[in-house]
Amino acid sequence: MTKLSSTTSALAMAVLVAAATSSLLVATTAPAAVSAQGVSIPPLDTGALFKQKRCPKACDQWSPCCVQGYCVNKPFACMTSEGCVPDQTFGGKCTPIPMCKSFREDFNDASVLIDKYDMQTPDQARMWREYPGADHATVENGNLVLELQWSDKDGRGQGATIPTLRWVQFGTISARIKTAGGRGVVNSFITKTTISDETGDEIDFEMLGGNVSEVQTNFYWNGQIDYTKGARWKGGNGFATDGDYHTYTIDWKPDGMKFFVDDTLIRSVTPAQVGNKYPAQIARVFFSIWDAGCNMPEGTVQWAGGETDWCKDAAKRATPKRMYVDWLEVKCMTEDPRPLADYIPNIAKPSNGTAGDAGMGGFTPNMPPRTTNRTTTGVSAGGANAGDAIGSGNAAAGGVAASVASVVAAAVIAVAALAL
Ligand SMILES: *[C@@H]1O[C@H](CO)[C@@H](O)[C@H](O)[C@H]1NC(C)=O
Ligand SMILES: *[C@@H]1O[C@H](CO)[C@@H](O)[C@H](O)[C@H]1NC(C)=O
Ligand SMILES: *[C@@H]1O[C@H](CO)[C@@H](O)[C@H](O)[C@H]1NC(C)=O
Repeated sequence: MTKLSSTTSALAMAVLVAAATSSLLVATTAPAAVSAQGVSIPPLDTGALFKQKRCPKACDQWSPCCVQGYCVNKPFACMTSEGCVPDQTFGGKCTPIPMCKSFREDFNDASVLIDKYDMQTPDQARMWREYPGADHATVENGNLVLELQWSDKDGRGQGATIPTLRWVQFGTISARIKTAGGRGVVNSFITKTTISDETGDEIDFEMLGGNVSEVQTNFYWNGQIDYTKGARWKGGNGFATDGDYHTYTIDWKPDGMKFFVDDTLIRSVTPAQVGNKYPAQIARVFFSIWDAGCNMPEGTVQWAGGETDWCKDAAKRATPKRMYVDWLEVKCMTEDPRPLADYIPNIAKPSNGTAGDAGMGGFTPNMPPRTTNRTTTGVSAGGANAGDAIGSGNAAAGGVAASVASVVAAAVIAVAALAL
C-alpha cells in the first residue's frame, strides 16, 4: 500500500498521458445525491463526465452525431457516454447511456468482440475494442485474449483496452482470468466510469506480471488521485496468477464492496471506512494489458516489478505477452428498463452521389481536412492528423488496419484510448 502510494499506478500513468493530450474539465458543482445507504453519489453531469466537445457547427442528417468536435455517422458517436453534444447533434438528442443487463459471456463466439466503430446497438456484442490499430484483442478457443505486442514506435509494448458495451452501477462482476507473467506487465480487470482519469470512479483488480504470487486491489473516487487505497493480497500455496486461471470477483453494493479471488474474500471496504469517498458512479467493466516497464516513469517501472524483459533485449520482442479471459459474468443490481430503440440514432442513408461522405469516410465536411496518406488498408498513421486536431500529438500508434470510414473515428478516440 505504501509502495503504491509513493509510486505511479495504472491510473497515474494514464493521467500523465491524459494531461498532455486532453483539455481540462470543469468540475461538477451540483450537490451530490445521497443514497439510502449514505453513499455520496455525485450527480451525473454528462457534460463534465463525458467531455462533450463542441463541433464547429451543427451536424446534418448524413453525419448527425457531434462527438469530440466532429460530425460522425456512426452510432457510437451519438452516445452520451462518448461525449455526444445534444444541441449540435441532428435531431437535438444523443442516445442514452446503456445501463446494465445481466449476462455471462463465455467467449465462444468471435462476434461478441467488435470494433467500437461497428457498434449498431449496445446488445450487438459484449465488449468493444477501444483502439483499432493497437487493440490486440481476439476471441480464441473460448477465451478473450488480450495481447501485449512490442512496438518500436513507442519503445514499449502496445496492449489492449476492452470495455463492455453496457454500464453497471452496483452488482457482482466476476471473471476467470489467466494473466501474462513477467516484470513490467500489468493485467487489469476493473470498473471505470470513463476512459479518462479526470472524472468518475474506478475499482481495480491489478495483477502484476512482476509478482504473480499476489493480487492488488484498488479504487478511486470522483477523479481524485489518491494512491492510498491500494492493497496487496498474498496468494500463498503456489498461487500464481499466470500459472492457472483464477476467478476474480468484485461484489459492488451501495453499502460496501468485497473483492474475492477464487471465492476467498480478500478485502472489504465500506463507505464509512473511506469517509463516503466510495465508488458509486456508473461504470463499464474493462480488461486491459499494458507495459509499465519500458519507457515509463521510474515509479511506474518500480511498481510493475522492474523493466520488462524486452526493453533492452530485442530477442524477446517477437513473443507477445497474453492475458486470457475464460468468462465474464455481470449480475446487475438494477436492470436497464429501456428498449433497444432508445439507443438507435437516426442516421440518414445518402442517396447515390449526393452525400458528402464518399471522400470523407462518412464524415461531413464539417471537420478539419484530412491530410493523411491512404494505404490499401486505410490511412497510414491516420491518427496523427485528426488527433492533432483534438489536441493529441501522437494518436493512433501502430498501423491502423481499419476501413477508411473508421480511421478518423479511430483518431478521434485515440486520445482516450491512450489513457488506460
Ligand atoms: C511478491 O508478493 C508477495 C506477496 O505480497 C510479497 O511477499 C513479496 O515480497 C513480493 N515479491 C516481490 C519481489 O516484490
Ligand atoms: C445506388 O445505386 C445503385 C446502383 O445503381 C443502386 O443499386 C442502389 O440502390 C442505389 N442506392 C440508393 C440509396 O439510391
Ligand atoms: C505522405 O507520404 C509522403 C511520401 O511518403 C510523405 O513525405 C509525407 O510525409 C506523408 N504525409 C503524411 C501526412 O503522412
